[in-house]
Amino acid sequence: MSISGDSRRPSRTLRGAIIALSLAFVGTGLGTPAHAASEEPEIAKQPWSFSGVTGHYDRAQLQRGFQVYQEVCAACHGMRLLRYRNLGEPGGPEFSADAVKAIAAAVEVPDGPNDDGEMFERPGRPADAFRSPYANDNEARAVNGGALPPDLSVMAKARSIPTHAAFAPLGWARDIIAGYQEGGPDYLHALMTGYEDAPEGTEMVEGMHYNAAFAGHQIAMPSPLSDDLVDYTDGSPKTVDQYSRDVSAYLMWAAEPKLEERKRLGLRVLIYLIILAVLLYLTKRLIWSKLEH
Ligand code: HEC
Repeated sequence: MSISGDSRRPSRTLRGAIIALSLAFVGTGLGTPAHAASEEPEIAKQPWSFSGVTGHYDRAQLQRGFQVYQEVCAACHGMRLLRYRNLGEPGGPEFSADAVKAIAAAVEVPDGPNDDGEMFERPGRPADAFRSPYANDNEARAVNGGALPPDLSVMAKARSIPTHAAFAPLGWARDIIAGYQEGGPDYLHALMTGYEDAPEGTEMVEGMHYNAAFAGHQIAMPSPLSDDLVDYTDGSPKTVDQYSRDVSAYLMWAAEPKLEERKRLGLRVLIYLIILAVLLYLTKRLIWSKLEH
């Protein structure tokens, strides 16, 4: 039969087109850092336990990261999408039920009105949302010299494409093909460790701090971390680098609490599809081998 010869040609063309298109994507993607604006910061990729197809969070790291958030960042940043009970749920820091109760109870949360119509504060419960440091955005700005410390609930996702990559043509396509999803924590780590003296000749706006990773390099947040600031009890190094790794991992979990579940399912689906593809191929061979052609 001549059908097989004819029917193969389009598929080959299609395959060629797909390969050419992928190469073009990768090519443009790889080429971007070279012509990306040189003054924009380059964010270094870090090793994370949650990268790759079998990625998962490191419980101890998430617990330390929460400690850093609670003791340092929570003074200025809220995480209003989280509730204290989330800290004990599977796939996260997995604090014990008693630890979650103690964490919540250590925070005074606003409640009310009571019988006299007045608002009051009481110790938190696991079902309460994380307490915000300010009553409203205006107070937050007033306290921080006009700058608003953003809510950190989904910050790791909001900054998952660093500014320079967002503007680089097809940088996102390169990341999709390479399966790179850690742009958020990479940026957060770079930001926390990026405070340095401004280079000679930089005109700093009053109240701003020089940061190598921040777009534009002038940020209203003073360097929040310093060595020995947070007292780790598990023997991990008490350094800015370690604090920023831990808090970045914690913020990644907050932004994507179902990451482990997603990766587990994804891997199973891939294995299933590979087995199915092999079976379909063998079935196709079996059926067509009996036909004359
Ligand atoms: C003294 C208050 C203060 C503390 C403490 C603080 N921040 Fe900030 N943060 C700010 C302010 C103000 C901004 C807004 C900066 C700006 O817009 O220039 C900010 C901005 C940020 C941003 C957004 C940067 C961007 O790309 O837009 C992140 C992320 C961040 N903070 C993380 C943290 C983390 C993590 C901690 C704890 C280790 C922390 N901050 C502690 C005040 C604070």
